[in-house]
Amino acid sequence: MEVIKTVQEMATMSRQWVTHGDVGFVPTMGYLHEGHLSLVQRARKENSLLVASIFVNPTQFSPQEDLERYPRDLARDLHLLEAEGVDKVFVPPTDQIYPPGFVTYVEPTGLLATACEGAHRPGHFRGVATVVLKLFELVRPQRAYFGQKDAQQVAVISRMVADLNLPLQLVIMPTIREPDGLAMSSRNSYLDPPTRVTATALYRALEAGRQVFDAHPQEDPQLVEQAMIEVIAAAGFSLDYAQVRAPGSFAPLETLRAPALLVIAARVGQVRLIDNFLLRADGRWDTGIAVSER
Ligand code: PAJ
Repeated sequence: MEVIKTVQEMATMSRQWVTHGDVGFVPTMGYLHEGHLSLVQRARKENSLLVASIFVNPTQFSPQEDLERYPRDLARDLHLLEAEGVDKVFVPPTDQIYPPGFVTYVEPTGLLATACEGAHRPGHFRGVATVVLKLFELVRPQRAYFGQKDAQQVAVISRMVADLNLPLQLVIMPTIREPDGLAMSSRNSYLDPPTRVTATALYRALEAGRQVFDAHPQEDPQLVEQAMIEVIAAAGFSLDYAQVRAPGSFAPLETLRAPALLVIAARVGQVRLIDNFLLRADGRWDTGIAVSER
């Protein structure tokens, strides 16, 4: 496995493979877990050349967020990626992705960028879209792999790929969960043992919402939202939102019908957690996969 540490080296290398393309790409912010590795494993099967990136992207954190304390362990990450058969890992320095004088951003607009996560993390999707476009341009993959765990990120990047005619295919993978339902996340390392136990509240809220959804077809989405809110309140978490949205646009739904996304975000102490369940157009729920079932 080769570690690529400069933008220049990455750009030069990818220009060579762009013509004979069968390149898969998994962008990450590191501190890898089974969720990340599920993307890597799928990408390994589908591409002759596999590139991953590790870059904690400062522009997707707002000033009061956790950029400085975001968990990092590069040596462990490289070890895990090597064991999965990754060919190249791009680990650029921040000042090469954002050199002095940097002023050009990709700005997703409208409801998709301002609803839900967008409302609670202003500028977040601008940072995500900007860095993902830059990484796509530097790595030049034919396929890029993202997790449904970050449902709104998936919608924003899908929109960007369509809107900017980017020549690649997105592959979206289900959320990998701990055996008790908690969605795997690098930020779970912030949870102290008692909070870790109650952190399943998001999953339980989604499960409660799903049951109400299935029992009340064509009825008011507020029924589902209320069911989710009650579980979060009972756990003593501070709710940011618990909503039913259209998966591609994040528009609110008028009635309970597929396709739909149940999205939830809540804070417990200093830690902010997000999760979602997806009801596909064919009526099948995608609630994720427990790590033990993989
Ligand atoms: P990061 O949070 O490191 O996640 C990297 C990828 O792993 C994302 O596509 C994310 O959705 C996916 N992922 C995280 N947890 C997962 C889980 N439990 N199951 C399945 N997939 C999971 O998302 C980012 O980094 C950044 O925003 C990035 C796209 C790299 C841009 O900076």
